Amino acid sequence: MNLCVTALLFYMFQLIHGQPDYLGFISIDCGIEVNSTYQDSVSNMIYVSDYSFVTTGENHGISSDYVKPSLVKRYLNLRFFPHGARNCYTLRSLVMGNKYLVRAAFYYGNYDGLGKPPVFDLYLGTNYWHEVSLSDAGAFNWMDIIVVAPDDYLQVCLVNKGMGNPFISGLDLRPMKNTLYPEVNATQSLVLVNSNRFHMGPTDGSVIRYPSDSHDRIWTTYNAIPNCIQISATSVIQNNLRDVYDVPSSVMQNAVTANSSRIDFSWNPSDPSVNISSKYFFIFYFAELQTVGSNAVRQFDIIINSKTWNKQPYTPTFQVTDYFSGILHGMENYSVSLVATKNATLPPILNAMEMYLVKPITAVATDPGDARAMMAIQDDFGVIKNWMGDPCIPKASIWRGLNCSYPPKLVFLWVGWCHLY
Ligand SMILES: *[C@@H]1O[C@H](CO)[C@@H](O)[C@H](O)[C@H]1NC(C)=O
Ligand SMILES: *[C@@H]1O[C@H](CO)[C@@H](O)[C@H](O)[C@H]1NC(C)=O
Ligand SMILES: *[C@@H]1O[C@H](CO)[C@@H](O)[C@H](O)[C@H]1NC(C)=O
Ligand SMILES: *[C@@H]1O[C@H](CO)[C@@H](O)[C@H](O)[C@H]1NC(C)=O
Ligand SMILES: *[C@@H]1O[C@H](CO)[C@@H](O)[C@H](O)[C@H]1NC(C)=O
Ligand SMILES: *[C@@H]1O[C@H](CO)[C@@H](O)[C@H](O)[C@H]1NC(C)=O
Ligand SMILES: *[C@@H]1O[C@H](CO)[C@@H](O)[C@H](O)[C@H]1NC(C)=O
Repeated sequence: MNLCVTALLFYMFQLIHGQPDYLGFISIDCGIEVNSTYQDSVSNMIYVSDYSFVTTGENHGISSDYVKPSLVKRYLNLRFFPHGARNCYTLRSLVMGNKYLVRAAFYYGNYDGLGKPPVFDLYLGTNYWHEVSLSDAGAFNWMDIIVVAPDDYLQVCLVNKGMGNPFISGLDLRPMKNTLYPEVNATQSLVLVNSNRFHMGPTDGSVIRYPSDSHDRIWTTYNAIPNCIQISATSVIQNNLRDVYDVPSSVMQNAVTANSSRIDFSWNPSDPSVNISSKYFFIFYFAELQTVGSNAVRQFDIIINSKTWNKQPYTPTFQVTDYFSGILHGMENYSVSLVATKNATLPPILNAMEMYLVKPITAVATDPGDARAMMAIQDDFGVIKNWMGDPCIPKASIWRGLNCSYPPKLVFLWVGWCHLY
């Protein structure tokens, strides 16, 4: 038993793999060759293999039928998990209490020849993140979660719920300044599903991300505003002092306006998990892009589901980003109207928007010292296939060989792991 205890303490200090790069970014291409890396041609970021982040699962390439010239390299391979209810990636060397954006990306591409994507759950540590359900074999999906790290590591876990083997194509971690997204704190996270972060640039599918966005958020085009007119500017759009979202200038440089006095559109979360008890957090971004003459007035109201969000008639500031945000209960359909006031001579404009699911962070993790020691052992002896994620939570997937008390603290280490020597 002494040998085992010595080993345990020793491995607690061996958490050297899988650290962030100099930007604090971790960019993983799941399923590529062990220890290989490459530079992505679009983002110029270095992607690394998942070798040092996960100990289970198997690599596989997607079906050649789904390989298209436009497909980024990241989606050509994936890691799938045929064994165990719960398999986790561990992202290390983080700063406890700091804010991070974590993104998981999925492209099934009929890698297993079954022609049917699996349905499984994604967890961040012990907290439910979202279900992963792709509409068809050629569908892409990625999901963000913005969280405060409860420790100096985060785990992303894929949970098999009997509807096919979980898989993952890519995993990213991006540090966020702690002043950003003040809605995110130790007990609350923001989850982005269905790519609901939009710029109003050309509807050609162009994506804005790093290096334009220093936090590497992915902004996609929104093409569902009827009768809108696109406008753009080349000058830099400043963030105003109260802008706690740090939207890049390249996003704010494009906007939509109307040839009438209003912009109306409806937005549908397209998320079967959303119901009246869900909460959605909306942010609408505005900046004046045109020189407004002394006789002209751009002034409008921001009305979401019949409720006016601005207290006074709103006029966007020239080349400065401003925003309106709010939380609404989950529903099938939201109606957004930007309506020119009586005094206005110019139509309303909209530059960008984000829609997040608000998720409570509730589960208490296992005593960090215990969990870290267990992870270290598991890393070096990857054979213990069910030792994944938090050792004690959820109760249904306690690591074999452990007994846990609640609130979680390991009370007994099964001496069986010593046999690994
Ligand atoms: C991968 O890199 C690690 C750490 O540098 C090394 O220990 C391991 O042998 C490498 N594995 C392969 C297959 O190259
Ligand atoms: C997190 O924010 C929510 C909503 O503003 C608040 O109710 C909660 O008390 C905050 N939690 C912490 C730990 O600050
Ligand atoms: C606005 O433009 C759209 C096409 O871009 C057109 O169908 C519509 O009639 C126009 N509306 C007005 C009020 O001019
Ligand atoms: C809303 O959805 C959650 C899970 O997504 C579920 O637990 C809850 O029972 C649902 N509530 C209603 C009112 O349907
Ligand atoms: C959403 O609501 C708007 C306005 O209430 C309505 O015109 C539109 O048809 C609805 N869309 C869907 C998909 O229900
Ligand atoms: C609209 O214009 C009139 C006349 O210039 C002015 O008295 C009024 O305060 C303006 N209303 C708003 C909301 O700006
Ligand atoms: C752990 O749990 C098992 C089965 O529930 C029980 O037989 C065993 O005595 C427990 N061990 C400790 C140290 O609590």
